[in-house]
Amino acid sequence: MKPLKKAVLPVAGFGTRFLPATKAVAKEMLPVVDRPLIQYAVDEARAAGIEQFCFITGRGKTAIVEHFDIAYELEKSLEERNKADILAELRGLAVTPGSIVTVRQQVPMGLGHAIWCARAFVGDDPFAIILPDDLMQCETSCVAQLAEAYRETGGNVVAIEEVPMERVNKYGVLDIEKDMGRLVSVKGLVEKPPVEKAPSNLTIIGRYVLMPEVMTHLAKLEKGAGGEVQLTDSMAKLIGTQPFHGLRYEGRRFDCGDKLGFLEAQIAFALERPELAPAVRGFLDRYR
Ligand code: UTP
Repeated sequence: MKPLKKAVLPVAGFGTRFLPATKAVAKEMLPVVDRPLIQYAVDEARAAGIEQFCFITGRGKTAIVEHFDIAYELEKSLEERNKADILAELRGLAVTPGSIVTVRQQVPMGLGHAIWCARAFVGDDPFAIILPDDLMQCETSCVAQLAEAYRETGGNVVAIEEVPMERVNKYGVLDIEKDMGRLVSVKGLVEKPPVEKAPSNLTIIGRYVLMPEVMTHLAKLEKGAGGEVQLTDSMAKLIGTQPFHGLRYEGRRFDCGDKLGFLEAQIAFALERPELAPAVRGFLDRYR
């Protein structure tokens, strides 16, 4: 079995739910407490042993790449002002030279199309997909949990969670073959089904480990729900030819592509920081 070393991070969406904030600033650069969403995503991947990253970018997304570059003048100035803590934090961000590549998705035609843009990067290797607007709060990195499940099952694994039945029409939904608790084997997948036709309320979140064969199906660029090239449709075609499982990951997800999810994430992540938590609790009391 090939080791999991690659991750694809699609960041080419327009982020329309966050306009006007996302008119000139990429959604993935919006901060939760003091770091942008993209940094949480990369840190989560590194904690899972990922060594190579492919950002699927579009117009106006260059700040994402800048964020992982060395800011020489800034570092020099911090050094001169003895700001050792911040300097160490910034230096921790730097990635091994050559470990991030970017691919441009000229037109955002859907998540499936974005992933297909990474086909040369993926080659013949298994790869993780991380949607940075799903922000995870997990004791063990969510990608690491998936990587472990991949080693166990030898095939495709998607992170899943249960949602109230009336909300399944917003997600990719699993048709379950066998529920084994932490892992479920999958016999079908459907993107954004009408509530009455949904096969379950187990939905796919923005973390995946996929086998490279998914690219063969994506290459057909067939449009699905919402007129977009859907990743779910191509993943569904792998079922029966390769192992395909859902993993009930341990932890919490915040949908930071959505205003309420983003606001909740600010509070949840601030409360995890000992230097901020007491003051945050104090001011939250004022809004009861
Ligand atoms: P979303 O469905 O959240 O779309 O994409 P979006 O454009 O980012 O946001 P809204 O819905 O308009 O507010 C999920 C993920 O897939 C990426 C997005 O950048 C995000 O990380 N994506 C989506 C692409 O990279 N390309 C696409 O064509 C579509």
